[in-house]
Amino acid sequence: MIEGTPVLHDRELAAIVQLVYQKSGITLHEGKRALISARLQKRLREGGFKSFKAYLATVEQDESGQELVSLLDAIATNHTSFFREPQHFTCLVERLLPRLANASRPRDIRIWSAACSSGEEPFSIVMTLMDALPLQAMARVRVLASDISTKALARATSGLYPMERVQSVPLATLKRYFKRGLGALEGLAQVAPGVRSAVEFRRLNLLEIDHLGETFDVIFCRNVMIYFDKAVQQRVVTMLERHLRPGGTLFISHSESLNGIRHGLRWVAPATYERVAS
Ligand SMILES: C[S@@+](CC[C@H](N)C(=O)[O-])C[C@H]1O[C@@H](n2cnc3c(N)ncnc32)[C@H](O)[C@@H]1O
Repeated sequence: MIEGTPVLHDRELAAIVQLVYQKSGITLHEGKRALISARLQKRLREGGFKSFKAYLATVEQDESGQELVSLLDAIATNHTSFFREPQHFTCLVERLLPRLANASRPRDIRIWSAACSSGEEPFSIVMTLMDALPLQAMARVRVLASDISTKALARATSGLYPMERVQSVPLATLKRYFKRGLGALEGLAQVAPGVRSAVEFRRLNLLEIDHLGETFDVIFCRNVMIYFDKAVQQRVVTMLERHLRPGGTLFISHSESLNGIRHGLRWVAPATYERVAS
């Protein structure tokens, strides 16, 4: 323990684990005490809280809900990268686009990145589509990107990334869709305005969505269900299925599975499911 650093005792640890589960569906393991404590210390310091007990009391009493948002911001794992799990981007171009962008089907192409973290996933989707589609078809594309974390969404909307985060992006893509930051933005790469404007970012909690009032041709919901237990996964998959258009595709992560979850989707490839066209 560092001198003066608040200690996370059993009672507060249990309360945090329960609160995070109730509000976000994320299962924290009490064995991760050191990790949970480390992630919250900064918020305690910023807010001038002398103990976890005082901090929790504020979270529970704060009617604006802002303190809870900060708690979830600190707890959620936002790890992501550009073109992560590239098989899905290949599938998008080779299997889905010929159908979706077919000129005889002039409706919009709607894609949802449902736990988008700091934006790498939705921007990778847009760059992939821009490479593959003519301008006319691109005009019909709308990408919604959402996450529970306001901190991650703020990074996403800025489109700014440290150079090391774009190192794995193919050079041609980097040249076409990124600008090198100058002056105050030295050392950063910024996603081009044309890519950024194709994405609408929104704060959405997967647990609180009933119906968004729109449906999607493709939903990316990757590397988030891994933090949920079966009951929450079931709730989220049922909600996602409701938001898929007939024939629409759900991508989950290759490290996740829908085993043991009730759903009416058809498995088409690893981590790829389709709603049967009616
Ligand atoms: C590990 S990142 C995955 C990002 C991206 N989909 C990928 O595969 O690279 C998981 C994201 O899920 C978000 N998340 C966790 N619980 C959520 C919830 N209940 N509703 C919406 N987003 C949530 C976190 O804030 C985090 O940004």
